[in-house]
Amino acid sequence: MSTNKIIVANWKMKLPYKKAAPLLKKFSSIKFSPTVQVILCPDFITLPLASNILKKSKIKLGAQDAALADRGAYTGEVSPVDLKDLGVAYIILGHSERREYLAESDALINQKLKAVLAVKGLIPILCVGDKVRGKNPKTILFKQLAGALKDIKLAPSQSIIVAYEPVWAIGTGRVVTNSEVTLAHLLIKGFLTKRFKPSQSRVIYGGSVDAKNSANFRDILVVNGLLVGGSSLNSKDFLTICRNVLK
Ligand code: 13P
Repeated sequence: MSTNKIIVANWKMKLPYKKAAPLLKKFSSIKFSPTVQVILCPDFITLPLASNILKKSKIKLGAQDAALADRGAYTGEVSPVDLKDLGVAYIILGHSERREYLAESDALINQKLKAVLAVKGLIPILCVGDKVRGKNPKTILFKQLAGALKDIKLAPSQSIIVAYEPVWAIGTGRVVTNSEVTLAHLLIKGFLTKRFKPSQSRVIYGGSVDAKNSANFRDILVVNGLLVGGSSLNSKDFLTICRNVLK
């Protein structure tokens, strides 16, 4: 059976390290549907523990960021090569919280994307999103995509995931309408298919997804999956979300 939805758990910096092992064990004991690919993204220091606890599960490991180079004098950074060696398969890049609090620019995200794609087997999850509801999403999304994807070429075996995360919907409980999601996804997919083969990109949605509203996304065919923040720290809610998108 082929995987048809990607559900990413972004734990951000919300979980105290001391509480990581029990939650990881809960996740590893869940039997997710084979038609869902779950990707768990804890913070950097939790990754080795997660890699160990999840090694027998079907859950893939993701990181929340990576350095802009594979090796060198980059104090505080983590090499995408080492992340790969640790068992990480996906890297979130350009999250709006990093754009906001760490002033990450499209140019920097572009460098990181290149560094990640240079490591065989790593798949980037590039986040883009508009800040103010209804205020020209097309211009903002296209600017972010063009900047992040500048001079990026994908080898036939490579692919990219783009997460549409409207900033106004992140952690606010403000839920997008189906038409807002559909419009943004079609714009993003249209942009991507001009550069890559349709099969090389997938577009997922993130922003205040929870156990209650997750079923809304089930019938929106353009949505290839979800990027879940707060609700991904509750294993029951997260499982409900994974089930709801398939029903
Ligand atoms: P919330 O689900 O907490 O709104 O976070 C979304 C997000 O930023 C995931 O990357």
